[in-house]
Amino acid sequence: MNKIVVTGANGQLGNELRDIDRSGAYAGQYEFVFTDVAELDITDRTAVRTFMEAARPQWIVNAAAYTAVDKAESDAERAELLNAEAVSNLVSAAEAVGAGFVQVSTDYVFDGQMPADRRPLSESDPTGPRSVYGSTKLKGEGYALAYKRSFVVRTAWLYSTYGNNFVKTMLRLGSERPEIGVVADQWGTPTYAADLAAAIMRMIAGADARGADDTALFGLYHYTDEGIATWYDFACEAMRLGGRDCRVRALTTAEYPTPTERPAWSVLSKTKIRNAFSLNIPDWRESLARCIRNL
Ligand SMILES: NC(=O)c1ccc[n+]([C@@H]2O[C@H](COP(=O)([O-])OP(=O)(O)OC[C@H]3O[C@@H](n4cnc5c(N)ncnc54)[C@H](OP(=O)(O)O)[C@@H]3O)[C@@H](O)[C@H]2O)c1
Repeated sequence: MNKIVVTGANGQLGNELRDIDRSGAYAGQYEFVFTDVAELDITDRTAVRTFMEAARPQWIVNAAAYTAVDKAESDAERAELLNAEAVSNLVSAAEAVGAGFVQVSTDYVFDGQMPADRRPLSESDPTGPRSVYGSTKLKGEGYALAYKRSFVVRTAWLYSTYGNNFVKTMLRLGSERPEIGVVADQWGTPTYAADLAAAIMRMIAGADARGADDTALFGLYHYTDEGIATWYDFACEAMRLGGRDCRVRALTTAEYPTPTERPAWSVLSKTKIRNAFSLNIPDWRESLARCIRNL
């Protein structure tokens, strides 16, 4: 049985991978070892190497990251340590034990400007991060992609029944207030972390089916759920599905300033991942309904 070590397993994505393990979907095929900072601090290079040499996994999935986008601006050193240097620690341990590696990245590696043709961004589009979070994640991508057995999966607008996220905030505000304002000029795709976790498992199983010496599938991919929405659309749908009686007012980015510039365009193309792994990607509205039922 192949062993998968998951780091940062108490976060949204990590918990969804725990659910996949509990579901038994990969029973007999994969054995999971879940770790978070208490068991394995990925910023500690020696600890990472020692842990992986003892566990000898076939795969390492890094679900840990510094994800507080605004806080990262004033905590750049820590963001760099977690989003970049820790990835280098994991890659070098993966290489030492011959494991495949999965790194998760973000739409914030792009400059966030809306292209004139409103085209989904592909893996070959130029990057140009505008934030500490985006530039440290891009550096982490570089470390991962230098290893021939790495997958880097960029995603966006993640939510889950676990952790704190936009859906939970909307449902809470929807119970507390008669009206809220939400930005309606930033576009992307809400993505259920359970769907991302399922896609990552398909990638791992797909690579394993081809054998350890075949590295053709490895590299950079985009994954989000299907469809396009604004934060306003996302909020309206969450209120509707959650049965909240709260009016959502459309705001412009200028009316809702944040310490870090938010991307106006985060729509990612899924063509590459869909073709490589024969994925059926659900529409964001279907997945949101599933998440809210699971809450
Ligand atoms: N959330 C989004 O909207 C979004 C969008 C695009 C891409 N992504 C990417 O998707 C991935 C998963 O995101 P997520 O939302 O699931 O993240 P998350 O919920 O913030 O979980 C990250 C986990 O990593 C843990 N961690 C922090 N420092 C650590 C360390 N030194 N060693 C080991 N674990 C550590 C965190 O623990 P503490 O909570 O104790 O710090 C937390 O349990 C990340 O790579 C993120 O950059 C997220």
